[in-house]
This record gives sequence, C-alpha cells and structure tokens, in this order.
Amino acid sequence: MALSIFRTKSVTDETGELKKVLSAFDLTLLGIGAIIGTGIFVLTGIAAATQSGPAVVISFVISGLACAFAALAYAELASAVGGCGSAYGYSYVAFGEVVAWLIGWILLLEYSVSVAAVANGWSGYAVNAMHLMGIHLPKILTTAPHLVQNAAGDVTNTGGIVNLPAMVIILALMGMLIIGVRQSAQLNMGMVFVKVLTICIFIAVAAFNVQPENWHPFMPYGWFHTLPDGKTTGILAGASMVFFAYVGFDAVSTAVEEARNPQRDVPIGIIGSLVFCTVIYIIVAGLLTGLVSYKELNVSEPVAHALTLRGFHWASGLVDTGVIAGLTTVMLVLYYGLTRIILAMSRDGLVSPFLSKVDEQRKTPVRVIVITGVIMSLAAGLAPLGALVEMVNIGTLSAFVLVCLGVIVLRIRQPELHRPFKNPLNPVFPLLGMISCGALIYFLPEVTKIRFTLWVALGVIVYFTYSVRHSKLARHA
Ligand code: ALA
Repeated sequence: MALSIFRTKSVTDETGELKKVLSAFDLTLLGIGAIIGTGIFVLTGIAAATQSGPAVVISFVISGLACAFAALAYAELASAVGGCGSAYGYSYVAFGEVVAWLIGWILLLEYSVSVAAVANGWSGYAVNAMHLMGIHLPKILTTAPHLVQNAAGDVTNTGGIVNLPAMVIILALMGMLIIGVRQSAQLNMGMVFVKVLTICIFIAVAAFNVQPENWHPFMPYGWFHTLPDGKTTGILAGASMVFFAYVGFDAVSTAVEEARNPQRDVPIGIIGSLVFCTVIYIIVAGLLTGLVSYKELNVSEPVAHALTLRGFHWASGLVDTGVIAGLTTVMLVLYYGLTRIILAMSRDGLVSPFLSKVDEQRKTPVRVIVITGVIMSLAAGLAPLGALVEMVNIGTLSAFVLVCLGVIVLRIRQPELHRPFKNPLNPVFPLLGMISCGALIYFLPEVTKIRFTLWVALGVIVYFTYSVRHSKLARHA
C-alpha cells in the first residue's frame, strides 16, 4: 500500500476515440475563448482601485510571465504525454496516483470556483444592462453578503443577501448541459470574435481619450504590504489577483484527443493564446487606467463604467452586451471541462461511478452536472468575487508548480521519451515557473492559504478512505 499510492500510468494508457478535427488555429481560438473573461473585464478595475493603481499593467506583466513558464511546461507534457486529462493525466504518468489525485482534486476546485467567479462578473454586467433597460433589481438580490471596508476605513456589510443573477446563469447553463448542448468549435469561434470585437471597441475609444494625469501616481500602493486585517495590497498582490485573467490556457491541453496534429499544434495553441491575451491585457489595463482615475474602478462592471463616466454611452452599451455574451461561453467551457475531469477521474476509479453515470435518454452525465451546478450556484450567490478568485488562483498556481516539477521529474525518469516540444536549457524554465508561481501564492492573503490547505486535507482524506481502494490500477494490480 505504501508504494502503491505512487503507481503510475504509462504514456500509452490514454487512447482516444474522438474525431481529430482541430487545427493549431482552432486550438488557439479555444484557448482565447477560455481565457478572456472576468479577469480582464472586472478584476482589472478592482486590482487597479485596491491593489496596484495604474501599475496594474505591471501586475499583468508579472503574472503573464509566470504563466509563460507554466505554459512551456504544459506544452512539453501535452506533446510528450498527451491524453485529455490535462495536468491530472500528466501527473499520473510522471508522479504516480496520489499526486495525480491531488492535482485532480485541485482542478475540481479551479474549474468549479472559476465558474462561480465568472458568474459574478457576468452578473455585474447583466445588472448594468438591465439598469440601462429600466429594470432595477434591488441591491439585496444582486450582491453577496459580506463585510467591506469603505474609504473612511469603517467596516460595513455590502447590504446584499444573495447574488441572484449569478445563481440563475449557472442554473441555466446546467439545464443546457443536461440537454446536451456543448461548446462547439463554431460557437466558440463566434464568441471569441464577439469578445475580441468588444475589446477592439474599447481600445478604439479609449486610445483617443486617455488623460495622462490619470496615470499619476503610478504606484500608489507600492510593491507589497500586508494590511492589519490580513489582506494584501501592492503591485505583487495585484499580480496574484489578476493571475485569474490567465486561467484557462491549460484548457487547450484537454483537447489533445481532438487535435489533428497534437504534438505540434497543442504547444502552438497553448503558447499562441497566452501571448495574444497577454498583449491584449496590457493594452486594456493601460488604457482603462488612463481613461478614468483608478479610484473610480472598484465596481462590478469597470470597463462599461469607465466609458459611461467619460460620456461614451453607446460604447458602454456595446461593451456590456459583448461581455455578457463572452462570459457565458467562458462559463460553458469551464463547466463542461469540470464534468470532463470528473469523468476522467471516475474512469480511473478514483471517483465513484455513481457520479459519472450517463443518462440513457439524454446521453449526458446528468448527476454530475446537477450536483456540481447546485454547489457552484450557491457559491456564486453567496461568496464575494475576491474570495472566489483567490481560491481559484491558489489552486491553479499550485497545479502549475506541480506541472513544472513534472517536466523535471519526467526528464529524469524517462529521458528517452519522444518529446516533440522541448523546453530549451532544461531545467531553467520549469524552475523559473516553480519559483514565480510559488511567489504569486506567497502574495495571496493568509485566509486563502488556510482555506486551500483545508481543501487539500479533505482531498487526502477522500483519497485514503475511497480512491486508493477503488482505483482501476489497484484492481488490475
Ligand atoms: N481567465 C478567465 C477569466 O478571466 C477564467 O474569466
């Protein structure tokens, strides 16, 4: 038993029966579809107002760099190991079962809490759109209940009870997934187009209306401080928050089985989508903080709000519509990805087959869709966006650290493995990835680290009470 928890799968264990249709371009679009969301449309404003000031641009550069190292590690493992289980699948090969389980457990957190966080962002823009149409929902139904500190330093309640629109959109997506709607390549392409167009409208308007005095002071909160209440502030804390904007590029690696030439195209898709989004984020963050003062941006729909403040109501309305459509598809990709990871873990025997049972009539895993949908909808309705984002970030950063380590371990354990994409100067880039992602974890608030430790501890308990005995590898041993 002591050793069997490190049993590994072989590289050839994963076989695919899915149609191989996706090109490098499709994969890049898939990545962009999953990446651009609440991060750029909401968190840029919140991070600028509360953590980085106009230097939020630097926060984006720092977290983009950490992601670039992790992306290189993903690219190497996706091309060499393959399989659609993403980091979960690679660690089954590189480290063995117990680590794979933990990464899978962390991915469940990443995907499910991301859906709740993006639903929060969606709600901000949807409430604004309803407002423009003359429908005014009361604040108690659009805001999660939690304590906030106002400008005078007083702690008050948000005045909300539940974020109803965020709950409703998740339940609607749940219904769609049950009846079998899934993200098709065409729908994804359409939505990527809408999102990029939305961003282009913003850039076109903002570029000619920047007031350079808004960029002063550039770093009002400095590099990093821990506040008396345990919260963190400064450019580095901002980098740990806006990291969320990059979450999702790893989704490309879940499409390995559907790629035409996965060994070449998946690395292109991962790195291409990340580079594209990094450039866009830096431009948008720079322009947003140049358009209005960073102090104005601590709202739930900052990009539309900034345009309204400067009198561009038509552009604000267009951006609002584009964001609502664009965020819907991010949630769909992540929700679908979540069910897929649970199915992969269930196929390996680590999660109960009760969850993954496919409904005979609809041919969809109804139980897992409903159970995860209800949990995510409660999280979206009751938890504040900041807390959700920080949980996603700590989980994803931990997974990235392990994926980078996986590259180093696999080079030692299986030096002969064919690697169509290789990190140059090994182990420099994976090591830099581990250090930079580890540092971003360090800059997150203490309470997030405690919550995450509890989640991991729960995962360890589940593994030793259930998964270790039901694993397919155990049964075949
Ligand atoms: N990166 C995705 C977003 O920003 C999850 O919404």
